[in-house]
Formats: sequence, C-alpha cells, structure tokens
Amino acid sequence: TSNKMWGGRFAAGPDAIMEAINASIGFDKRMAAQDIAGSRAHAAMLAATGIIQASDADAIREGLLTVLSEIDGGTFQFSAALEDIHMNVEARLKEVIGEPAGRLHTGRSRNDQVATDFKLWTRDQLDAADAGLVALIGALLTQAEAGAEWVMPGFTHLQTAQPVTWGHHMMAYVEMFSRDLGRFRDARARMNECPLGAAALAGTSFPIDRDMTAQALGFDRPSANSLDAVSDRDFALEFLGAASICAMHLSRFAEELVIWSSAQFRFVTLSDRFSTGSSIMPQKKNPDAAELIRAKVGRIFGANTALMMVMKGLPLAYSKDMQEDKEQVFDAADNLMLALAAMEGMVRDMTANRDHLAAAAGSGFSTATDLADWLVRVLGMPFRDAHHVTGTLVARAETKGCDLPDLTLDDMQAVHPEITNAVFDVLGVENSVNSRTSYGGTAPAQVRAQIARWKDNLK
Ligand code: ARG
Repeated sequence: TSNKMWGGRFAAGPDAIMEAINASIGFDKRMAAQDIAGSRAHAAMLAATGIIQASDADAIREGLLTVLSEIDGGTFQFSAALEDIHMNVEARLKEVIGEPAGRLHTGRSRNDQVATDFKLWTRDQLDAADAGLVALIGALLTQAEAGAEWVMPGFTHLQTAQPVTWGHHMMAYVEMFSRDLGRFRDARARMNECPLGAAALAGTSFPIDRDMTAQALGFDRPSANSLDAVSDRDFALEFLGAASICAMHLSRFAEELVIWSSAQFRFVTLSDRFSTGSSIMPQKKNPDAAELIRAKVGRIFGANTALMMVMKGLPLAYSKDMQEDKEQVFDAADNLMLALAAMEGMVRDMTANRDHLAAAAGSGFSTATDLADWLVRVLGMPFRDAHHVTGTLVARAETKGCDLPDLTLDDMQAVHPEITNAVFDVLGVENSVNSRTSYGGTAPAQVRAQIARWKDNLK
C-alpha cells in the first residue's frame, strides 16, 4: 500500500530496505514534546489569522494534548512506516480527532517543522549545559575557597616548575569552564530565531503570522530567510563545537584527577561514591568516572566532525542527509551532561591531601626561580647570570641528594661568594607563593580576589 501522506503520487509502497534506511522515528521520537509544542503554536496561529476555523484549532489543540499524554504514558504506537516523529504525531492526531487533523499542515512543511523541533531540543541542551557548568563552577569555587593558600607543585611538561596554591589551580578551571559557559550562552543568543513558517523552502502564500509562532515558542524573532531557515544546522554545530571544547576541558581535568589520585601522587582522595573497585585486586580504588569523562571527548568531538561532514557538501535547501544531524547531537548532549554531572560530583566529594600537596610542593627544586630572583634583587646580578648560578646550585644539591633549602651557606658561597644567609628566606614554598602577587598570580590574596570576582559574577 502506498503512503498515507503522499499516496496520491505513488502506486506502490516502499521496499523494506527503503523503509529501514529512511525511518528516523527510532531516534527522533525524542523530539515529541518539541514537535507537539510547534504544532500547537502553528495551529493557534492558523486560527488567529483566519486560515483555519477556531473550532478546528481547538480540536487540534485537544488532540495534540491527548497524543502527548499517550507518548508520555508510553502507550503510543510508533511506526517506522510513518518515518518520523512529525508524521507519527499527525497520523495519530487524525485517528483521535478526524478531519481537522488534515488542516494542521497548512502553510507548513516538515522542513521548517523539523528545523523548529530540533532547535527547540538543542536550545534545551544549551540551557542544560549552562546549568551543569554553573553547578561545576560552584563546586570548584568551594574547593578553591577551602584551599586558597594550600601549597602544591605547579607543573610544566608535568615536571615540577614553581609552587602554586590549590585554590589557584581550581580557579584556572573556573576560568576555562566560564568561557565554555559563555560559548553556550552566545550560541543560544545566536540560534534563537524561529524557522517555523519558512515552509518547504520558499515561504508560503497563506497569510501566516511568523512573529506569533516565534513568540509562542520562546524565540526572539522569526528567521529572516526561508531558504536559510530550512537549510542550515549551524546551531547544532555551534552546540557541538562548544560541547567539544567543554569536553576537552573536562578531559584535561579528568586526566589530572587520574594522576593526582594515584599512589605515586596522592594529591587527592576521590570519594567512594565516585570510584570503583577491582574484581581481583583488593586494594584498588579506581577513578573510573574521571577516565570515562576523559573518554567522552572522543565521541563528542566525533559528533562534531560527523555533522560537519554531513553538512559540508549540501546544496540549498533541505536534503535528507540532514536527518543524520539528530543522533550526533543527541549522543553528544547525553554524554556531555553526564560528564558535567559526574565531574561536579567528583569535585564536590574529593579531598585534597594538604600534607602530600605541601611535601610535593617543596620537592624538585621548585623554588629555584625564587633563588634566581633573589640574586637579581639583592645582589643586582643580571637575570641570565643568576640563572646560571642557580643552575649550578641545583646541580650541587642534586649531587648531595638534597633540596635547595638543605644546602649550607658554605655550599652557596662556594658557587657565589656574595650569597648571604638571607637567601634561605626565599627558598621556602610559602614564601614563594606569597611573593607572586602580580594580578592573576598564585599569591593567596590574588586567589581570594579571583574567587570573590567569580562569586560576584555568578550571582
Ligand atoms: N525526518 C526528517 C528529518 O529529520 C524530517 C524532514 C523531512 N523532510 C523531507 N522533505 N523529507 O530531517
């Protein structure tokens, strides 16, 4: 039998393989609520503009509410023969209310319908990412405040560089995640134009009111070009792009948590609630949540690449290729939200091991730069010479098997006779971080100022 929606043109129905490759209902049923919201706005507008009778619009509205409750209640029978969520809903509406259902699609196409549904769905995800990031930033601020002055090693090349504070390290991620937040918010502002009323591609001859539907669906305005409205998916790509960068940040932090929770580092203890054990090794407590967050960037970035590839060769306007947009965004969104929530939980629950952090902060000649700076400041040495003298002292300490503060004054003066006992004041880790008072530096006062700025921003 031929299709109910376009049977006029067709004598035969589709091959089973055609149906299988064509159907999207298996995944786009996730947009049922958005589809019904779009249809309700469209029907109300059709009545307000006199395009359909108010009584038909009433029947459509009631019928759509019935269909939605069937879907929410799990009793709705989805059919692959009806291809997608749009035709599944409309066909069921016809069964429920009869003839008026056939008037709903006046001045509309599935092309503007799907663009509208998918924008509404994606917009919700932008808001969910926003909320997830705000929660994560809150957890980081709590950690930063607790340990604003706890010293820890700062690394470059994962080699000890200079001491920093725990609060400073947490606040570095607050900066990164806040930029992610900004990207999601920018994307939301840019995408919030309503495609509904673009119809198939050219607009419609019916006297529709696009401002009315745009407003009803929470858009700022109708999209200005009907071809563009049904053709582009840059809003989905912006979501995926912002999600990819955010996932990259999550992954870097996850990598640090994996390293920090190891027996060799012991910088943090993850809570039991966010760890797993081993089925064979009784001592194990594994950072699986962090590892999975680290892995999520792969599929999210993959989704971004996949949709870029789908879109890059398409002539205007709609092509069926674009049906492949949804699974990428669905999967990326699901995994991003999970990763954000898991990271927030891990950060809230984790304990920084202050003593291990402090011990590590003082090892690895971490205050060598402070020593070089002292030679410049107190002895008036050019920095390059100070660098050389300090390097020689580090080599001497390495030979003796001790750290810089453990060298004697004789050791120091053997390398440079003008060094005095005062040098030992700058070799302490606390002194080192306290001295880094430049704007944005690691001195606890600067870190506290950062925290205060962000708490204010997020109010
Ligand atoms: N299921 C389709 C999609 O997801 C809906 C739009 C179909 N439009 C069309 N002209 N075949 O893109």
